[in-house]
Amino acid sequence: MKFLHVVGARPNFMKAAPVYRALAGTGHEQVLVHTGQHYDALMSDVFFKALEIPNPDESLNVGSGSHAQQTAAIMSSFEPVVLARQPDVVLVYGDVNSTLAATLVSSKLGIRVAHVEAGLRSFDRSMPEEINRLVTDQLADILFTPSADGNENLAREGVQEAKIFLVGNVMIDTLIRFLPRADEIFPHLKAELSLGSFGLVTLHRPSNVDEGATFLPMLETLDSLSETLPLIFPVHPRTRQKWSARLEQCNPNLRVIAPLGYLEFLALQKHARVVITDSGGIQEETTYLGTPCLTLRENTERPITVTLGTNVLIGRNWELLRKQFHEALSGDRKQKGRLPLWDGKASERIAGILTRQSS
Ligand code: UD1
Repeated sequence: MKFLHVVGARPNFMKAAPVYRALAGTGHEQVLVHTGQHYDALMSDVFFKALEIPNPDESLNVGSGSHAQQTAAIMSSFEPVVLARQPDVVLVYGDVNSTLAATLVSSKLGIRVAHVEAGLRSFDRSMPEEINRLVTDQLADILFTPSADGNENLAREGVQEAKIFLVGNVMIDTLIRFLPRADEIFPHLKAELSLGSFGLVTLHRPSNVDEGATFLPMLETLDSLSETLPLIFPVHPRTRQKWSARLEQCNPNLRVIAPLGYLEFLALQKHARVVITDSGGIQEETTYLGTPCLTLRENTERPITVTLGTNVLIGRNWELLRKQFHEALSGDRKQKGRLPLWDGKASERIAGILTRQSS
């Protein structure tokens, strides 16, 4: 059997790493393709190094563009690679444009697609990722879900039950593996950033950062909250590009810094008093770590982080943000329970299913 993994953007790397490692133990052949959707060293190379992912066998170097341009560029450079490599299964991860593009190409070539992190739904089609999820899951042949809500969503959309496997959360596999290393580097990081008590902020969704009418009041609220608790804000290139001049005028307690590596960011998530974010993966990581998470979105494709975890949806309600922020600092909010199958073994389950299907 030959497995071909496709990664492209930052949130893919921590999902592919444990699956690649688990399959490496089975003796089957593996090929790693990096589309180059993310290309800055801080968005890509540092993750390969920290997560001990081997160098890609193929780098497509597609770079940025509109959704159509980026998706089309990945498709046209990926097709000859799949034709040359002839994999038995193409593994795609999460919900980024690289996931969708590789799925479309592989399905049309009659190659089986396995989707890791299948079934998540925000039910908000204004999110580009929701479109990517819907199409990928309709075309995929093997769907690995992180939680039972994923199975319910897929059943509702008519995906055959026999194709769906509830395996748990691969990103948590990576977190569990690397948490001791993140703990090791934390004292150094703390000294380097002169950290006392702090909160952590990330924002990159187009719906939050592209328009001033949304982003500027959000930033003003963060500016004012940072007077109560210093906030560390590692800025995604998209947000930096759009708002560099405004970001320079932030309150010095809202500390705007370059994107961080995996271990550094994990260490900060663990020790932050509160995390404010619009990321999907961070909602899950904070839930696992027990850190209060305030999500600046109206919806989430990861509802168990709200029902079982530490996540609260804030939307654009700045009063609610202030209230929840102070509540998080008061230490009253507690994790509600352990999440089923978030046990560090999801990727082993995936490798077991894939290799059993081949024998
Ligand atoms: C993508 C994913 C999103 C994921 C996010 C994590 C899609 C539709 N979106 O969004 O789901 O949460 O990655 O970061 O796939 N840029 C750089 N350097 C880079 C990469 C991007 O400067 O290495 C800049 C470019 O100006 C680019 C912009 O960031 O146009 C946005 O990058 P893009 O890959 O289009 O989407 P993300 O916002 O990163």
